[in-house]
Amino acid sequence: MTERLRTLLAPFDDGGAAPVVTRADLIWRKPDHRWTIRYTLAGDGDEILGKMYRDAGSGRWVHEIMRWLWDYAASGSPELGVPRPLGWIPELSMLVYLPVGGRVLGDAILDERAATYMDLAAAWLSALHRSGLPLDRAFDVGNELANLRAWSSIVGDRYPDEAAAADRISRRLSERSSELGAESGRPIHKDFHYQHVFVTDRASVIDFDEFRLGDPNFDLAHFCAYLTLLGCRLPAMADVLGRHRDRFLVAYSRQAGWHMDGRFPVFYAYSCLKIARQLCAGTGVLPRPHADEQRRQTSAMLAAGIASLDGGLPGAS
Ligand SMILES: Nc1ncnc2c1ncn2[C@@H]1O[C@H](COP(=O)(O)OP(=O)(O)O)[C@@H](O)[C@H]1O
Ligand SMILES: [Mg+2]
Repeated sequence: MTERLRTLLAPFDDGGAAPVVTRADLIWRKPDHRWTIRYTLAGDGDEILGKMYRDAGSGRWVHEIMRWLWDYAASGSPELGVPRPLGWIPELSMLVYLPVGGRVLGDAILDERAATYMDLAAAWLSALHRSGLPLDRAFDVGNELANLRAWSSIVGDRYPDEAAAADRISRRLSERSSELGAESGRPIHKDFHYQHVFVTDRASVIDFDEFRLGDPNFDLAHFCAYLTLLGCRLPAMADVLGRHRDRFLVAYSRQAGWHMDGRFPVFYAYSCLKIARQLCAGTGVLPRPHADEQRRQTSAMLAAGIASLDGGLPGAS
């Protein structure tokens, strides 16, 4: 790895000693898909990340996206922080990039600067949505309705008492499919949540595997649904988190001229069912609950999804 990194890092050479990898830690994996490894270098202990893909085409595609966004941010959109791409190693099927600075929003959201962090996250998202990032993949309503049906049956298998709630979301979204597909031409992240956002004096966002063209409401509602999950995990903080969510939506609205309409609740309900499925499968954002807590969170997310379809929107201010 030292040898390979030497080649990738050569363009950034500042005349110092060649980088030597002293440590490699597997920090994250999506079983059967991708593995994220942190490499520590000798000397100051600088770190480099390598994301290894089972499917080389997907990794190469993400590398192109990261490069485009990095250049775009450098040419006048500093609010759009992204990891600095270092290169693609075909023999390892590995995307190599630098860690972003700052703290993950999931930790930072409970401190006193949280309102500012919500503004930064909104500014990042608004910059992405108006960026014109060229993408050759689009949100496919038929495919997503099939996902929703599959997720609903996973939830029903795990918790038969919740089968009706999960099925209700899936069916109602199928009836409202025209809203899911109303806007299909804007670049979206599609996995925008508090563990993929890092904050300092700006927001930087990671994990571009789900990028595609679609509806900006998807990212907004997805982000808010994960805040609802966080509030469910930290009930004493639920009100505070609700205010942060409102702040995020107001900030985005100001930046992007966005107004709440019927599309937000459908994407919110979609995200709630996605989260319920992750809870049942033991995947999704950490910490993953077990036993009674797993069931309680699943039930709460399904209830939040149904409430949004019934007009009980989270933070529609
Ligand atoms: N550029 C980065 N800066 C800091 N941490 C990162 C960065 N990229 C990945 N990570 C860490 O690695 C984890 C997995 O990365 P991610 O790209 O989300 O992989 P996956 O697609 O498998 O979810 C993240 O949750 C984060 O903790
Ligand atoms: Mg991820």
